[in-house]
Amino acid sequence: MSIIWNKENSTITLQTKNTSYQMKADSQGVLLHTYYGSRIEDTDMSYLICSIDRGFSGNPYEMGKTRRQYSLDVLPQEYSCFGTGDYRASALRVRNADGSQASELRFTSADIRKGKYTLEGLPAVYADKTEAETLTVCLRDPYTGLEAELQYGVLEELDVITRAVRIINHGNAPVVIQKAASVCLDWQFGAFDWLTFQGRHAMERNLQRTAVGHGIQSVGSVRGTSSHQYNPFSILCEKTATETSGGCYGFSYLYSCEFLMEVEKDQAGQTRFLCGIHPDDFAWTLEPGESFQTPEVLMAYSGEGLGRLSRIMHQTIREHICRGEWQHKRRPVLINNWEATYFNFTGEKLISIAKEAASLGIELFVMDDGWFGKRDDDNTGLGDWYPNEQKLGCTLQELSEQVEALGMKFGIWFEPEAISEDSGLYRQHPEWAVQIPGRKPCLSRNQLMLDISRTEVQDYIIACMSRVLSEASISYVKWDLNRSMCDKFSSALDARHQGEFGHRFVLGLYRILDTLAQRFPHVLFEGCSGGGGRFDAGMLYYTPQIWCSDNTDAINRLDIQYGTSFGYPVSAVGSHVSAVPNHQTGRKTPLSTRACVAMSGTFGYELDITDMNDMEKDEVRQQIKMFQSFYDLTQYGDYYRLTDNKGSCTVWEHADPDGKEALVNAVFHGIEANPEPVHIHVQGLKEQELYKIELLDTGDFLESRIDRWFRESDILSGAALKYAGLTIPPAWREYQAFQIYIKRLERQK
Ligand code: GLA
Repeated sequence: MSIIWNKENSTITLQTKNTSYQMKADSQGVLLHTYYGSRIEDTDMSYLICSIDRGFSGNPYEMGKTRRQYSLDVLPQEYSCFGTGDYRASALRVRNADGSQASELRFTSADIRKGKYTLEGLPAVYADKTEAETLTVCLRDPYTGLEAELQYGVLEELDVITRAVRIINHGNAPVVIQKAASVCLDWQFGAFDWLTFQGRHAMERNLQRTAVGHGIQSVGSVRGTSSHQYNPFSILCEKTATETSGGCYGFSYLYSCEFLMEVEKDQAGQTRFLCGIHPDDFAWTLEPGESFQTPEVLMAYSGEGLGRLSRIMHQTIREHICRGEWQHKRRPVLINNWEATYFNFTGEKLISIAKEAASLGIELFVMDDGWFGKRDDDNTGLGDWYPNEQKLGCTLQELSEQVEALGMKFGIWFEPEAISEDSGLYRQHPEWAVQIPGRKPCLSRNQLMLDISRTEVQDYIIACMSRVLSEASISYVKWDLNRSMCDKFSSALDARHQGEFGHRFVLGLYRILDTLAQRFPHVLFEGCSGGGGRFDAGMLYYTPQIWCSDNTDAINRLDIQYGTSFGYPVSAVGSHVSAVPNHQTGRKTPLSTRACVAMSGTFGYELDITDMNDMEKDEVRQQIKMFQSFYDLTQYGDYYRLTDNKGSCTVWEHADPDGKEALVNAVFHGIEANPEPVHIHVQGLKEQELYKIELLDTGDFLESRIDRWFRESDILSGAALKYAGLTIPPAWREYQAFQIYIKRLERQK
């Protein structure tokens, strides 16, 4: 039993294998938060609460003259309200029918049941009845009848807790929700660092670690997507936390639209974390009897550092968020024509790439942007999802058949949520574009967004895509979106309801994705928004992989994939080998380095493979074999960051969860002559077992100067590799990559 409701002391404790989380309804009915951290058996943790009269922190009316130390402004709470004496950032802010913004929530009931709750129309962690329990706690505002149903899912074995909230209007007047966080978490003690993942187009999810100081710090998005700029995943950790030690709390928001994560350190040095829909563009009217469901947050605590926290996130996403046929099925090695041709291709050119790719062992050919409508550049055609047979020189079906005749699968690119002004669809339905009547819209990549908050627009996209997916043999879809949203407005909503647009938009997106996934269960969907502009756990519920970044430079990718690895598994990270000089940075890196980096992702190629010489083609053949032989290890193994990205070499590792084997990857950048050794400590092995170390020949060792760095006789124990460590061979040229394979020796019978 992972949820314990102790009615004697009014505590409810959520127990996972290694963590405890506790709340307590106090004598006033306020739901206090008493603890989250390493597991503690049945204890009322409210002994930790130390309230003193802080002055200017008011007291609920019922406290009268005597209890000035009781103030909502300082008590740790499960779900804080605006306007009634808690001056910190609040979880709930509403506008009541009389114009006031106050609410206060008091405990009314709780319910515990087997299994994990689901959320209609929204992504959510799933688990079967034996793996999870659900707690629902009802809080009610005695004055207005507004109810908040706090939902908790507990996945005991995984050390995971999920949270979401349903707001119900039991009153007799409408209420406008202005802010409804999915999680509010208070700590009375401790000094924290906040790890957030910031970036920009083509340079997403760079780790930023800042000390939490007094005031409110926040990251978020008002761009209509989760955004390149700030990712909806963050970590609060002890200041001293490292990869292998210290307390860390991770929060992953299962939402692909506008979000806000806030951290506040208050007057008493207490810390509050909040995460929910961004309130700037949000206002949701609840008529009497109506309810609103917030999206879900996935939370985990690791007492053993950041690495373990990441592995919990990875496992939860892989096993309890990603769904469908492709969740566990071996994903194909693909080739995409975008960086090979951009818009400038013919069917014949595509087939020539596919032919060469097939001969090297590539399994899927993806035709990117430019195959439909009138689209030879990025100014036109979005919305007209009809194959341009003139450009292709054949029908889509014929093209797909030609690819399949080569022994490959065929995939295709879409940008379903976008519309070009120069398109048949816009001429027919200008009111379907997101813009404010009477105001010129802001264009981005010369395009607008489609108003998919409207059911008829959703149905149009479903119909168009279903037609294309049925008329040819298509095994893969890249689902792109190439702008941020602004001029938010739907001509289908009246003025009172415009604040609902953003959330209704993403509900529409989720409905389209769900419908298509059900209709075409064999199709592998890859998410994308100009690379990683919508890289979030919500999208991973519908698309098990996401194109990680439009930046394919192996060295920049080290940063991007390093940051991404904190919250997301390798199996979610779309990563390709591209040409040199790299199209984004002009950098030249060895083919082996590009492959080494792409192998810590879904792996594929994105270059004109017909331009490669025979030696390069041989190398590609070897790389594909190698990726396939390490597939389970890289995609499903435990991930360890062995260095940060600041030095001259980045090292990371995939280890089999049973300690049978491991693959250590090292890429040098910023090489120096006569370098200091790069020394790492291998993780995830069994200390008592013996392992053989092998430096893999990744294709360019012909001129090797390292001359068997590890000898045949190099057999080391797991303990030696962990505690004494291993030295990476010195690089002899910039951007050198090494892959070191560590295999357990079978014991003699
Ligand atoms: C986005 C994607 C690219 C490519 C282009 C096509 O930028 O991230 O991979 O598909 O669109 O226009």
